[in-house]
Amino acid sequence: MSHHSSLFDSYSIRRQRPPKNKIGTGVKHDSAISHVMGTATYVDDMLKPQSTLHVAIGKSTHAHARILHMDLSAVWAADGVVDVITFQDLPAKTDIGPVFDGDPLMADKVTEYVGQTLFAVVATSHRAAKKAVLNALIEYEPLAAILTIDDALEQEQFIRPSHFMQRGDTQAELKSAPTRIAGHIHMLGQEHFYLEGQVSYVVPCDDGGLEVYTSSQHPSEVQQLVAEVVDLPFHAVTTIVRRMGGGFGGKETQAAAWACLCAIVAKRQNMPVSMRLDRQDDMVVTGKRHEFSNRYEVGVDEDGKVLGVDMQLAGLCGYSPDLSDAIVDRAMFHCDNAYYYPAAQIAGHRCKTHTVSNTAYRGFGGPQGLLTAEYMMDHIAYTLGKDPLHVRLANLYQNGQSTHYGQPIEHFDLATLMQTLAEDSDYDKRRQQIIEANKKAEAEGNDKRWGLALTPVKFGISFTVQTLNQAGALVLIYTDGTIQVNHGGTEMGQGLYIKIAQVVANEFDVDLDTVKATATRTDKVPNTSPTAASSGTDMNGKAAQNACITIKNRLLEFAAEHFQVNAEDIRFERNHVHIGTKEVLTFADFVLLAYQHRISLSSTGYYKTPKIFYDRSKAWGRPFFYFALGAACAEVEIDTLTGEYKVLRCDILHDVGQSINPAVDIGQIEGGFVQGMGWLTTEELIWDKKGTLASNSPANYKIPTAHDLPKQWRVKLFDRKNEEQTIYNSKAVGEPPFMLAASVWCAINNAIASLGDYKQNPELTMPATPEAVLKAVMRLQGQAWEIASKPDTETIESLTPADDDWGIDDDRVLPQQVAHGKDIEPPASEGQLFDEEPEAIENPNVSTARGPAHSE
Ligand code: MTE
Ligand code: HPA
Ligand code: MOS
Repeated sequence: MSHHSSLFDSYSIRRQRPPKNKIGTGVKHDSAISHVMGTATYVDDMLKPQSTLHVAIGKSTHAHARILHMDLSAVWAADGVVDVITFQDLPAKTDIGPVFDGDPLMADKVTEYVGQTLFAVVATSHRAAKKAVLNALIEYEPLAAILTIDDALEQEQFIRPSHFMQRGDTQAELKSAPTRIAGHIHMLGQEHFYLEGQVSYVVPCDDGGLEVYTSSQHPSEVQQLVAEVVDLPFHAVTTIVRRMGGGFGGKETQAAAWACLCAIVAKRQNMPVSMRLDRQDDMVVTGKRHEFSNRYEVGVDEDGKVLGVDMQLAGLCGYSPDLSDAIVDRAMFHCDNAYYYPAAQIAGHRCKTHTVSNTAYRGFGGPQGLLTAEYMMDHIAYTLGKDPLHVRLANLYQNGQSTHYGQPIEHFDLATLMQTLAEDSDYDKRRQQIIEANKKAEAEGNDKRWGLALTPVKFGISFTVQTLNQAGALVLIYTDGTIQVNHGGTEMGQGLYIKIAQVVANEFDVDLDTVKATATRTDKVPNTSPTAASSGTDMNGKAAQNACITIKNRLLEFAAEHFQVNAEDIRFERNHVHIGTKEVLTFADFVLLAYQHRISLSSTGYYKTPKIFYDRSKAWGRPFFYFALGAACAEVEIDTLTGEYKVLRCDILHDVGQSINPAVDIGQIEGGFVQGMGWLTTEELIWDKKGTLASNSPANYKIPTAHDLPKQWRVKLFDRKNEEQTIYNSKAVGEPPFMLAASVWCAINNAIASLGDYKQNPELTMPATPEAVLKAVMRLQGQAWEIASKPDTETIESLTPADDDWGIDDDRVLPQQVAHGKDIEPPASEGQLFDEEPEAIENPNVSTARGPAHSE
């Protein structure tokens, strides 16, 4: 290996060179090498004292039950057990709901989902704690459980009030429309499958405070909740997050519980305490993307242009509110995707079920709204026998219009973007070729069919909760000219730290390796928002820039006076400071001089997003600072005999404004697209009829692999600056590309539609697993196949003895008629059920020596 990397040059050499790797260059992630070498330290890798205690939780095995009795004597007696905690032992606040109450740290008298924490075991090792949990004897009295959206809707079980948005007279438009189309699309949830599971490590301090190391997107919330559950003031708790091994929204609120449990034990035992969820536990006990069941009725003219839409979105929230209010709102904000609905009436329901509490996941409800619009566009196109792309383009927003919630459409370049992509990807020509190829395949009795789809994305950037749109940063310059930047954002692999370092390097025009972004800590920047809503770079970048500007102004004032020149004639340039034409100092010499003259070399910086407001009581306003845009064109091949498919080609054109780091941005686009593809194709969450997650490991839950990537794949940036004054006119990139995967689903739909000569909307479900594709193919070929609103659970059921008649009959049933609820009535008088949950013990917690914690 040759070492050209500046990492190995001494600083005295480096600081003489012209600066490099700044704004607009594709510099690698600051942890790229340590990620690949396995030396990057995650919480579980931190070297911990041998006396560290370990926590494991005992979980409910019932979706809804009264807890009659917990016999934990054998748990206490197990090897290595130090302490056992139940609800009664909680010292202070017991509810850790992030916005609304409803998330007890442990169940008290009633359990509301399979996997809910009933008690916690503290032991001398992770393995001992997990083993001890198995000795619990729990007596339950089962209660009726609601497990599906349909049942929650039928019984009007909502975790938060329904919300409505409207414009114009939708019913009148529907009545007078030449064509009226009604449809329904059910989409499943999605497991986050971050590589690093939930984990926390809490160290008691000598002053009674706590130091909390956690894998959380929201350090400030963890700080506050930890303080509240152990009854400390906020200033006594410090949360530290160097990096996460992925968060994807799953660590916005749901990292807090484990930190709180560790904190309670750390206070009780006055010992360092660690806890991590093994994969199967993590999959069962943490919330996921919301499953949605959405209906629409749309009136269109002869060209397929929408005249009015009546939509009902229903999200499966689980047992508690968590962030579901905002998530269903975001689904409602995105149920237009990029299309103008002159009249619209949108209802959003938050269904309460006895399942895990669903939470943020890349797109935050947006994908579930957006896919409804895309499904509807396909539905319109195939009903009218038109090319879906033409229907999409005909409905596209135009500048000067506004959304159904009042946001003005400005600087809207999506038509150009889509047309550019259509040309670059030869859409028209390939569409004709595919139509011909499908005809030929039919004539020749070939089972293969091909499909093509080009779909757009418009995604609103800003937290829809206005308060959260603020950020802080801290910039420190040392006398050797090196700089530390700290900010409220967390690093989860998305490249936030490197982008912020680029901003700071650019402000002082110094080498990027002069600048180090340090671990996110609540004692450096307080009261931070979660790193979410794709806003990390937008907000923290501006805050860091503001801190730099404050320091720069001080330095300019000092130099002007010291060297007797005009401040305007002083330039920070290429690692140097030019004092008019008089003198040139290296940046390091210059800051040392300033220090010697008692000039402060550090500053905080603050930013709040301008222009946004939203009046929820009127469902009207401008919730988003701007929209991120993009489009993808995907081609697939399906096998009509087996339902299998592959993505042959995908062209993506995505708008990140003026990119700060094209390499990182393209990585985000690729990663988001593939994650979206997983959601819409292979990832299938399955619960059994008792509400237990059956797809609870990588063996039975399929995330995309390298083999699933498009065989030909081109990703390009739509290189245009953001018209809004964002950091260097860039645009947020984290979530929007997730929804580019709609193109793959629609391409599969297109391939199936060929079987009905493109005149019938195939009834394909989401995800389009091979099984779902095969069913849709057979339906189009005139064979009856049910559309279950939940995946077919017959297979799992066949593995357990049938205790009632739970078959799905072969006649096609409408989704709302699939009454899963009736099937899960508790056994009338089974009396006391003893809990003997067999549980796998994964690897014992071997602390590997990987060097100091948070070392980079
Ligand atoms: N990329 C990686 N590698 N890992 C992640 O966990 N999370 C996504 C996205 N990209 C994620 C990611 C989600 S859900 C969000 S909201 C944004 O990153 C958050 O980071 P940002 O605001 O800095 O883009
Ligand atoms: N996006 C992501 N996370 C959030 C939001 C949002 O709009 N609002 C509250 N948390
Ligand atoms: Mo992302 S779902 O906003 O963490």
